[in-house]
Amino acid sequence: MTDAPSGVPAGAQGGPSWLVDDILRVEDLLLRTAGASGQPLVAEPSLHLLKAGGKRLRPALVLLSSHAGESGRRATDLAAAAIELVHIATLYHDDVLDETETRRGVPTTHAKWGTEVAVLAGDYLFACGSALGADASGEVPGILARAIAAVCEGQIVETGSVNDPERTPEQYLNTIRLKTAALFVAACDLGAATSDAGPDRRAALMVYGESLGLAFQVIDDLLDLTGDPRITGKEPGTDLREGVFTIPVLIGCQRDPSLARRLASGDRELGSVLPTLDASGSLAAALDIACEHGRRAEGALAELPDVEWTASLRTIITGVLAQVPDVSPV
Ligand code: IPE
Ligand code: IPE
Ligand code: MG
Ligand code: MG
Repeated sequence: MTDAPSGVPAGAQGGPSWLVDDILRVEDLLLRTAGASGQPLVAEPSLHLLKAGGKRLRPALVLLSSHAGESGRRATDLAAAAIELVHIATLYHDDVLDETETRRGVPTTHAKWGTEVAVLAGDYLFACGSALGADASGEVPGILARAIAAVCEGQIVETGSVNDPERTPEQYLNTIRLKTAALFVAACDLGAATSDAGPDRRAALMVYGESLGLAFQVIDDLLDLTGDPRITGKEPGTDLREGVFTIPVLIGCQRDPSLARRLASGDRELGSVLPTLDASGSLAAALDIACEHGRRAEGALAELPDVEWTASLRTIITGVLAQVPDVSPV
């Protein structure tokens, strides 16, 4: 699941050759769209994260899901590029909120150009994604707009629980359903909608997208605690530092109340918190939750034909979970 050294984004690696061709076509659309401004102060920051790498998981989901109907339409490519631009826009804003210096292995946009440019370039990319969505027409603009609203809702709700070690696992799950899973659902829905897939296939794909999105964020939250920055391209311990207590930490606080007291008193160093989490079994418990959502995603695929594109969707589940070592396939 790491970024590809080969130039093929990780979201298309190990998949069928047609997926690589599709992703590279979308890549071209992304670069042309984000780089369209004649103003270097607009084009350079807008292209910054795009050129730095990234897995392109959401475009891969759009392209794969489009095989539920009539694949190969221009609207599917436009939707795939649109959702990646929306995703990157959320990253620009998220990095400002999280005060992080590194993303996709390079300096964050605000670290390079300052907060004003990063926020405005994020807005610009939201608009570029929306414009591609309008070109795709049909249901695409509505699906994108509702997904953007859900992500913003989730991010706002999360700010309300900062520094709260008593946030419940249910509150956590509801937040990540909005801030992360909504875009995965939208990606699958966009593939189905732009290919005129039937309602049963579309519903199954959306269940898959939501379960995968939940598993994905739980794994990302584990990687924030245990991941190798050379692989994640991000600074470890950011969530703890910012007081965003994620599921491994919340379970840890339930199991060992002294951890909640330590966090409240400002002890948020990864090196000091991690052994407590490990000893309480909360890292393993969080991994179990991710695997449970992975199994739900797998269950949704059972409603779809057993063919190459669904096999690729299954491989994505395994790839997401395998980012944390010692995970057996679902
Ligand atoms: C990062 O998403 C944001 C989260 C929802 C955790 P990705 O891990 O898909 O980021 P890129 O696109 O590969 O950089
Ligand atoms: C934010 O989650 C997800 C978004 C909506 C961007 P994180 O804060 O965990 O994402 P990363 O770890 O910075 O990529
Ligand atoms: Mg973040
Ligand atoms: Mg994270």
